[in-house]
Amino acid sequence: MEKLVITGGNRLEGTVDISGAKNAALPLMCAPLLTDEPMTLTNLPRLADITTLSDLLNHLGVTVTIAGGNGGGLTGRSMTFDASNIADTVAPYDIVRKMRASIIVLGPLVARAGEAIVSLPGGCAIGNRPIDLHLKALEALGADIDLEDGYVRASAPKGLSGGTVRFPFVSVGATENALMAAALAKGTSVIENAAREPEIADLANCLIAMGAKIEGAGTETITIEGVDRLHGTTYAVMPDRIEAGSYAVAALMTRGNLLLQNARMADIQAPMDVLSEAGAIISEEKDGVRVKSNGHLQGFNIVTQPFPAFPTDMQAQFMALATVADGASVITEAIFENRFMHVPELCRLGADITVTGASATIRGVPSLRGAQVMATDLRASMSLALAGLVADGDTVVNRLYHLDRGYERLEEKLRNVGAQIERVSA
Ligand code: EPZ
Repeated sequence: MEKLVITGGNRLEGTVDISGAKNAALPLMCAPLLTDEPMTLTNLPRLADITTLSDLLNHLGVTVTIAGGNGGGLTGRSMTFDASNIADTVAPYDIVRKMRASIIVLGPLVARAGEAIVSLPGGCAIGNRPIDLHLKALEALGADIDLEDGYVRASAPKGLSGGTVRFPFVSVGATENALMAAALAKGTSVIENAAREPEIADLANCLIAMGAKIEGAGTETITIEGVDRLHGTTYAVMPDRIEAGSYAVAALMTRGNLLLQNARMADIQAPMDVLSEAGAIISEEKDGVRVKSNGHLQGFNIVTQPFPAFPTDMQAQFMALATVADGASVITEAIFENRFMHVPELCRLGADITVTGASATIRGVPSLRGAQVMATDLRASMSLALAGLVADGDTVVNRLYHLDRGYERLEEKLRNVGAQIERVSA
């Protein structure tokens, strides 16, 4: 097991290259299942979750070829996917349990192959994370759904048919499954109360490049005119807005000055508004977003909600910031039922945090003190690393496999802008 050792106190200054977005790359890697032609994704981040999904695609019969870098200022990796021969329609438990996002193969697989048998993902650290909305969406498009032995079987031997998918509340993954399934359904489909996260528009833009007929992606109503087949394309994954927001917090916490290269302000407007309130001076530049400190750190309030409101995936990182801000902050987690596991670990570093139901009250302290802490989930691990950047002495973050799921080359990117951080084997 590896761990990060961070010696706090350094001011961060310089440029951080923002990688391709994990949460765009994962659904985009499922799109090749919809066509028998090879297609290439560029600017893919080098992350554990990407490898896990590649393994699943391989298992289904998709040939995945890894090329080198992209050039052209993007740092990601290119991969070519050839799903001309789908050899298997079963996504097995031992892969799905490692990454619940595997459930996004369900829609494209049943649309292309007429059947998909996917292990129920099970919950994860941050919550139960059911998939009922995914299943209702596919039923609305004509799939038969059966649950047995811990697997969900979706079947549509005569193909899917267009329909209306009405989500009672926003679900990113269910919107992505519905979008990909509808692309090949016979007739017109409408997705109502669709997720509006930028990753949805990224997926829709790729599908349109493959020949899909989609309107309204990025709004709450998406209309899809099904087509008989889709063709290959080459598509660049959007920059990771959650990674960008995480480094923006690092800039403010260390009273530094960072250029987040390739970040897109429109993707992070809500969190950047909070960061400005907390003391950041934020400006758009030609190749990214610059975040620097105005010298103060002020408490703030957050309620996590679907895009374009404040994203739940940045909640833990902003809580780290709140621990050393002047005054009190209140952070309410309204999306997941158990996404405060970073709280006891931050308290080990000397933070003053009280949780009441879905809300945490954080009273700023003059400084944190380094200690051994345990990563519990992806974004919590980033929260602990951020706290370590400002804590007195050494902070040791254990269970780095959580972090490696979603942050590419973290210690290299932080060292490049002045952090004292290294990865050691435990
Ligand atoms: C995506 O997960 C992201 N993952 C998550 O990022 C992110 O936190 C989440 O969207 C919300 O923005 C990927 O994109 C791979 P949801 P997803 O369906 O699609 C409930 C990270 O850290 N729900 O929008 O699974 C669900 O339990 C990860 O990068 C149902 O009840 O999220 C949650 O409370 C963590 N039934 C809420 O809806 C369903 O069928 C939103 O979940 C589906 C979801």
